[in-house]
Amino acid sequence: LSHLQGKIQDPKRVIRQIAVYGAGIMGGGIAQVAAQAGYKVTLWDMRQVDIERGMAAVRKSLERTAKKLKKNAGWVDQALGLISTTTDQMQACSKADLVIEAIVENLEIKQKLFRSLDAVAKPDCIFATNTSSLLVRDVAASLSSERKQKTVALHFFNPVAMMKLVEIAYMDGTEAGLLELLKAWVRDIGKTPVLCRDTPGFIVNRLLVPYNSEARMLVERGDATIDDVDTAMKLGAGYPMGPFELMDMTGIDTGYHIMKGWYESAPGLKGDIRFKPTPQMEQMISDGHLGRKTGQGFYTYK
Ligand code: 3HC
Repeated sequence: LSHLQGKIQDPKRVIRQIAVYGAGIMGGGIAQVAAQAGYKVTLWDMRQVDIERGMAAVRKSLERTAKKLKKNAGWVDQALGLISTTTDQMQACSKADLVIEAIVENLEIKQKLFRSLDAVAKPDCIFATNTSSLLVRDVAASLSSERKQKTVALHFFNPVAMMKLVEIAYMDGTEAGLLELLKAWVRDIGKTPVLCRDTPGFIVNRLLVPYNSEARMLVERGDATIDDVDTAMKLGAGYPMGPFELMDMTGIDTGYHIMKGWYESAPGLKGDIRFKPTPQMEQMISDGHLGRKTGQGFYTYK
């Protein structure tokens, strides 16, 4: 990436157009923060109804952010004006300098998406996955070797509008210069980047998932109540949320799928008892108690 020399200080000279795949909580949030920073974004999802639901959440979150930052309604409209939407998978990335996928956490589906986009994206286009638990090298397995060198994880946190961190995970062959460019881009959208090698869970989830497991086991053994564990971690460790509040926010199903994947096949984690999905989690999922999004998780929500 020698042609980037001198441009990296200003990521807007290199990254102008962004394509975000997946209009769910994460994809919508990523589109939002990129548009807030002045980037043009194309947001893709399979069905118009998913796009509409996603854009309604983006608007709500922008209005909330505007209130916090004391911005006017014009600021919200300006950001919304930078987001266009489409259900046309190929067209979404045709002009993109950076593609970020935030679709379902399923390896084959992510590989298939990246494989189709590889054929139509600009040769210089950077591919990024927002995976929370898969390896970048596995998601990128179906890509051409040139594209693989331009593929990383850009891992955002929920709620994207509020959380200040983006993990950038890279592979052995990641192009020199790319990480500097992405660090500058992450700062430009108002977040702080950290770098991590391509390892399951990167930094945050690698520490959070076993922490959540220990919290559940503490309660399952009857050593403490859910309320007391949450209060203890908020007041005794200074965390903004307790582990059960956090699991409800990220989704019981999300946590379950991360653990199942790691327990079954992640290098170095396979068979680790801390990641074995429990019957209690399976019960919660079959009852539809997925956390905040369904109104019921460890807690009940209005
Ligand atoms: N857009 C969207 N949601 C927003 C928002 C915005 N602009 N502002 C606030 N929120 C959400 C919160 O989730 C919460 O929901 P509710 O009020 O609708 O019930 C509420 O809005 C709280 O709003 P507040 O204005 O009171 O904000 P706080 O100052 O209390 O901060 C918080 C909320 C930032 C979520 C804080 O509690 C926090 O930092 N919690 C920890 C979150 C965390 O650890 N996230 C990482 C999860 S792991 C992950 O994402 C990785 C993935 O791979 C699984």
